[in-house]
Amino acid sequence: MALATRTGRRPSTTRTLWDSSVGKKTVMAVSGLIMLGYLVAHMLGNLKIFFGPEEFNGYAHWLRTLGSPFLHHEWALWIVRVVLLAAVIAHAVSAYQLSRLAIGARPVKYAHKRRRAAYATRTMRWGGVILGLFIVWHLLDLTTLTVNERAWAGHPYENVLATFSTWYGNTLYIVAMAALGLHVRHGFWSAAQTLGAGNARRERTLKLLANALALVLFAGFVSVPVAVMAGVVN
Ligand code: HEM
Repeated sequence: MALATRTGRRPSTTRTLWDSSVGKKTVMAVSGLIMLGYLVAHMLGNLKIFFGPEEFNGYAHWLRTLGSPFLHHEWALWIVRVVLLAAVIAHAVSAYQLSRLAIGARPVKYAHKRRRAAYATRTMRWGGVILGLFIVWHLLDLTTLTVNERAWAGHPYENVLATFSTWYGNTLYIVAMAALGLHVRHGFWSAAQTLGAGNARRERTLKLLANALALVLFAGFVSVPVAVMAGVVN
């Protein structure tokens, strides 16, 4: 409205949608689902560590030659990186703007019956912050190898072992994976509601799916540090 008055032109449909809370929730849902797809693939890829260094390092090499000879070395990986970065930014910006809208729209402090909703919102917000910080650490640890003291460039298997041979590496990753499980559980369910869950039966199925996804991701990711600590992967 304000935009239309200032420029004398009607705002575009995309602009109107982005300005609405429904639009921002849709951006959150779609970007969240893109990241979820990546996480499922990443978790499955990580499980290759159980088949030894050759298989795991070979897989990391394959990621860099994906699409070859049509695509140049690492192009497919860079496309994935750009899409993921766009999804992370869209997700974080819409989360921040939605929280500003919610604060502006709330006339009084939460009534007793809304405590549960407030708890879920707080968990999602802090979970998101923890995951954002974790991703920065994780990239410095296993992609750029900046903080990985015993890193060996081009040898991801050995680098994962180096990460999980320190108490702080294990603690950081396990805490982050717990935050990830909780975030996916509630986030997937919210995304389903935004994109139209439909009838009660479908909602029950989607809730079950949200719980299963969260559990599988948590267990799949955590199995790696646990296996290194237990000496199963060495
Ligand atoms: C125990 C859990 C995890 C392990 C062992 C692990 C392992 C790895 C390894 C070895 C790499 C480097 C791959 C390579 O350079 O070939 C990597 C990259 C990456 N991981 Fe993880 N990861 C874990 C959890 C996560 C989680 C929970 C997220 C997201 C929230 C994540 C996001 C990423 C991203 C974005 C990259 C960068 C990919 C790239 O651009 O090269 N990882 N991870």
